[in-house]
Amino acid sequence: MKLSSIVGTLCAAGCAFATATVSVKNGTYQGFSVSSPKQDHFLGIPYAQAPVGSLRFRGPHSLNSTWKGAKKVVKFGNACMQYTSVKAGKPILVVSINYRLSAFGFLWGSNELKAIGSANNGLRDQRLALHWIQENIAAFGGDPAKVTIFGQSGGGLSVGKQLIAYDGRDDNLFRAAIMQSGSMNEKWPYNVADPVTYMEDLYQNLTVTTGCANKRSELECLRNLPLEQLSEALNITNTAVFSGTGLGPWLTVVDGDFLTNGPTESLLKGHFNMVPVMHTTTTDEASVFGFTDPVNTDSEFRAFVAAGGPDSETIDIIETLYPDVNALGLPAGYEPPNNDTTFGLQYKRVNAYHTDVVETASRRMTVDTWAATGGTAYSGRINILIPGSSAALGSHHAVELDLVFNTIDSDNKEIKKMSKLMSRMWASFVADLDPNNHGLTGYPSWPTRNVSNVDGVGSNFVFDTDGSSKTESHVEQDDFRLAQTLCIQKIFQSQLHY
Ligand SMILES: *[C@@H]1O[C@H](CO)[C@@H](O)[C@H](O)[C@H]1NC(C)=O
Ligand SMILES: *[C@@H]1O[C@H](CO)[C@@H](O)[C@H](O)[C@H]1NC(C)=O
Ligand SMILES: *[C@@H]1O[C@H](CO)[C@@H](O)[C@H](O)[C@H]1NC(C)=O
Ligand SMILES: *[C@@H]1O[C@H](CO)[C@@H](O)[C@H](O)[C@H]1NC(C)=O
Ligand SMILES: *[C@@H]1O[C@H](CO)[C@@H](O)[C@H](O)[C@H]1NC(C)=O
Ligand SMILES: *[C@@H]1O[C@H](CO)[C@@H](O)[C@H](O)[C@H]1NC(C)=O
Repeated sequence: MKLSSIVGTLCAAGCAFATATVSVKNGTYQGFSVSSPKQDHFLGIPYAQAPVGSLRFRGPHSLNSTWKGAKKVVKFGNACMQYTSVKAGKPILVVSINYRLSAFGFLWGSNELKAIGSANNGLRDQRLALHWIQENIAAFGGDPAKVTIFGQSGGGLSVGKQLIAYDGRDDNLFRAAIMQSGSMNEKWPYNVADPVTYMEDLYQNLTVTTGCANKRSELECLRNLPLEQLSEALNITNTAVFSGTGLGPWLTVVDGDFLTNGPTESLLKGHFNMVPVMHTTTTDEASVFGFTDPVNTDSEFRAFVAAGGPDSETIDIIETLYPDVNALGLPAGYEPPNNDTTFGLQYKRVNAYHTDVVETASRRMTVDTWAATGGTAYSGRINILIPGSSAALGSHHAVELDLVFNTIDSDNKEIKKMSKLMSRMWASFVADLDPNNHGLTGYPSWPTRNVSNVDGVGSNFVFDTDGSSKTESHVEQDDFRLAQTLCIQKIFQSQLHY
């Protein structure tokens, strides 16, 4: 496995290249420097032995060889890495990692796998990469004592799982964490009612599809399949829960080792690594969770809710908490046509529930747990409407990505201002464990989550812009649809199996 890439800055033709070298434990790497902006790039550095041959479906193995002379690491590829020195008021180093995905990283569902403890290998890869960083980052000018892990969506979910890994044990691999639209208890995908039976079913289907079913060792058979045959069977672009025939997604599982409890249970028991966290979600997350079939009737809404696990009594309650009233649905600013057959007549209703059940409720539970047990948590809501984008999508999942890296391509003054603010706040949190040292004026301070006040409700920093000067970022009481998310939180463990 290799450290991967975040393209922070692409070099325009004509920029000057020079070589850059760095000596790590195993030998010397040669990358390249660019002059504008001044950055050194090292792409595709391995942090583990390649998980091929007999290492397929096994936990990652550490590097154990050395070399003489300089190895070139200068090519972008599907497995590459980049260190960038970001100038956002605070110099920071960005390391992005590649880890095994789909069944390659998350195969589970059989006794054979249980017996060898091969589970959550994608998360184990991440953990090994963090060890590599501890051993080698100083050579790049980094400080191993100041590592912040961060990720969005599946990345946020991974960060969350690293926080509850090994009962929340602190292995001194990182000192802070950022989760964007995803955390340890994000129930994703929603329409998997019970993850345990789902994973068994999925494994069964994979062995049947590949002809490995009922072999003396199904696992050995899967391990020996040609890569192409396995990829074809998995077809991750098209799966049962994303309306199709492929096999996946493969989920993180409670394996009794890397993860000892479900995520909600880990939070309730206090089994998490309570480093300072920053956790954001967007206002209209679910508008781009594209696999939802159009919902036109109450019974279709009930079926949508039921797919995630709630019993019928609970669905009655959810129906009343999320009524079919467009004015209460999401995105708030979207006015659907009367006959909205494309998105469905109950589009706004489904969006509100789906956004809350996957993202809002899990963010609130996470940051409130941190606050209640003495941890530092910064909670944020991203309410960014990019001018010219569809009103039906609102402030959707992933809308902030280009702003956090300050790579957004926009002429809009307000959007650019927001991009500057966000990238600086993120850098400030990484450097100082506090997002407020951003050096810009005219913004309220982002308070830490505090649930010790009378009503027990904490606050959010709201990143608020629609591209005009009408809206300004502000701090809010995080109490919108509070009764709704409390209801969802109550059934996280018992009915949503999370
Ligand atoms: C490195 O580890 C692999 C298995 O993890 C082993 O097969 C190999 O012999 C080791 N090489 C060295 C040089 O120790
Ligand atoms: C190679 O690098 C890894 C990762 O830093 C380290 O754990 C290992 O000890 C190194 N092995 C040798 C033989 O240098
Ligand atoms: C397994 O295959 C059956 C039959 O094709 C299908 O109905 C089911 O959705 C599949 N399960 C998963 C988890 O992919
Ligand atoms: C996956 O399935 C889709 C639709 O059925 C098909 O177009 C695509 O070629 C398949 N991909 C692979 C890798 O088999
Ligand atoms: C929906 O309503 C609009 C405006 O009233 C009309 O132009 C359109 O043809 C209708 N579409 C359908 C599918 O009925
Ligand atoms: C949280 O709020 C309470 C009540 O307003 C206050 O007494 C306490 O100092 C605050 N805690 C922190 C950590 O700011």
